[in-house]
Amino acid sequence: MDDRVQQSRLSFPPDMVIPPQRYSGEANHAEEAARVFRRCWMFVGFTDDLRNDNDFITADIAGTSVLVQNFDGDLRAYHNVCTHRYSLIHLRPCGNGKPVCPYHGWVFNRDGVPVGIPGNREHFGLDDAAKKRLALRRFEVAVRGRFVFVRLEPAGPGLDEQLGAYGAVLDHLSELFTDRIDEGVLPWNANWKAALESALEVYHVDATHPETFKGYVKKVWVCSYEGEHSRGVSQLSDGSARWWDGVSQKMGLPRSDRLESYDHYLIFPNLAIGVSHGALMSVQTYDPVGPDRCDLHFRLFVGETSKPQTQGGAARKAVEANVAGFNRTILGEDQRVAEATHKGLKQVQAPAVLGSCEERIAAFHRAWLARMAAE
Ligand code: FES
Ligand SMILES: [Fe+2]
Repeated sequence: MDDRVQQSRLSFPPDMVIPPQRYSGEANHAEEAARVFRRCWMFVGFTDDLRNDNDFITADIAGTSVLVQNFDGDLRAYHNVCTHRYSLIHLRPCGNGKPVCPYHGWVFNRDGVPVGIPGNREHFGLDDAAKKRLALRRFEVAVRGRFVFVRLEPAGPGLDEQLGAYGAVLDHLSELFTDRIDEGVLPWNANWKAALESALEVYHVDATHPETFKGYVKKVWVCSYEGEHSRGVSQLSDGSARWWDGVSQKMGLPRSDRLESYDHYLIFPNLAIGVSHGALMSVQTYDPVGPDRCDLHFRLFVGETSKPQTQGGAARKAVEANVAGFNRTILGEDQRVAEATHKGLKQVQAPAVLGSCEERIAAFHRAWLARMAAE
């Protein structure tokens, strides 16, 4: 073992830290997809996009394309891959329309069965039983508040069990933060774990975000845990707390009575939720696209304003543009260090040195290592 690691006074033993070689390589990526991403309930989107009959969303869960669709009020999840010659069915992240394959036009019903096959009698001669055998693979889907989750493995604990006490947090956030003011997907050249870790501590804030986040929070990070998940709370700086007070008042923004500071949750494995002053919610997933790449999917929400549009309209637009720009700037700064870290991780063997200010990273590593070791 590396002497440097052995001799230091660490809070976390190196054998509980994810080894650097686990941040790259196709074999790791495949094993992680099987043991972590297929077995966990994965956040895929919001019921906001699934309100009407035939509304759908799509998501990629570590290489498996999934569609979630409203069938006459019933939410169902299927493999988004046509059983004819394997085109993806829905190509957009969300929309409205029956599951119809864009390639040859097979139409799938609410049971995932291809009930409409152009030229069936002439070319295929499939009877009802044969069509049923060509049904799309169905996945588990569950909802907490407005958060929609899918689990690829057919068996396992329910969503409420996986979320524990944080289920009630999702309920609370869902009631409050109803207006999506920004959304985007940013491709990062970093393993998803290296990307996510940049959100689990505030130790990096001074060096990584000197002009932005540094002035936004006080750097005391009070951490707590719920199963595999974690929470970090930091006080906002006096300046940002005052700014949010003014803005919330002027715009008539509702504020949480439970979340007062900068509250950050990790719902294992890759859903991160940050709430500023109880008035702004950022929801981020770090979706693995390969061993060396992830998609950072972000969404920003505020509550519904109590002021009529005519009063707060222009001011509200300006504030929304301001916070959306601030968020994107910070993400760009995090991308820079996550990508730099990913390059570094490929060149070393010894586990990273985690200080006491990085305890949420250690907890994430423990949860990940336990999942990877489980049968
Ligand atoms: S691949 Fe889907 S209809 Fe042919
Ligand atoms: Fe950061």
